[in-house]
Amino acid sequence: MRQTDHASVTVPHLRTMKAQGQKIVALTAYDVSFARIMDRAGVDVVLIGDSLGMVVQGHKTTLPVTLADMIYHTGCVSRGVGRALIVADMPFLSFQGGMEDALRAAGQLMQAGAQMVKVEGAGPVLDTVAYLHARGIPVCGHIGLTPQSVNAFGGFKVQGRGERGGELKVQAHKLAEAGVDALVLEAVPAALAAEITRHVPVPTIGIGAGKDCDGQVLVMHDALGLNEQAPRFVRDFLTRGGSIEGAFGAYAEAVRNGSFPAEAESYLT
Ligand code: KIV
Repeated sequence: MRQTDHASVTVPHLRTMKAQGQKIVALTAYDVSFARIMDRAGVDVVLIGDSLGMVVQGHKTTLPVTLADMIYHTGCVSRGVGRALIVADMPFLSFQGGMEDALRAAGQLMQAGAQMVKVEGAGPVLDTVAYLHARGIPVCGHIGLTPQSVNAFGGFKVQGRGERGGELKVQAHKLAEAGVDALVLEAVPAALAAEITRHVPVPTIGIGAGKDCDGQVLVMHDALGLNEQAPRFVRDFLTRGGSIEGAFGAYAEAVRNGSFPAEAESYLT
């Protein structure tokens, strides 16, 4: 496991960044080589996303990803990261079955090198978040388009439009109260994400949620222009950056200077 030093990004550091208006730069990674390059390029948070089911394993959704897959890829990534904070996704069925199951799964991800775990949803998940938080496991929430619920949503669709926005605001507050240390907002209108970001005490990290979140995250393959059916919130940074490290650097700079995402890369309603 890596050694952290004063220059490493830590969980409390994320709140300081929010307080100081410093944007958080996050990307997904699944192996040591890409993790090493993004760490060198100054990415603050490396997420081992269960998106690996789609971009690495070739499935249509994230549902087939197992805890064993996540543990394996978390270990691979952790060996390439020196500075960034390492966050691992809790995959489908690893936390819905009860708090003890969730604690065991989260513990195994932490033993593989994660410093924080991410869980999708609110409602029944709130007690689990509080349970993990009370046992010293930092948790990142994830609301909006939560891909593990793709079947319930009827597809990968923007969430929180119109009156449904109120529900997401309540979820965000309840997750903050339950003890999340960060909150991913995925595919929600930019104005709603901005309002949640202003009102919750924890840093928000947006993907398809407009420029006013406290940070941004992208799936690595999307940032490298490898997605042939890219959603509107994706930008190809490889063409701009000229190399993989250049692409990650260009992404980090665009997030930090507020030029990514642009309005055309956000959902306005
Ligand atoms: O699985 C993943 O990569 C994610 C990000 C898209 C936030 O959850």
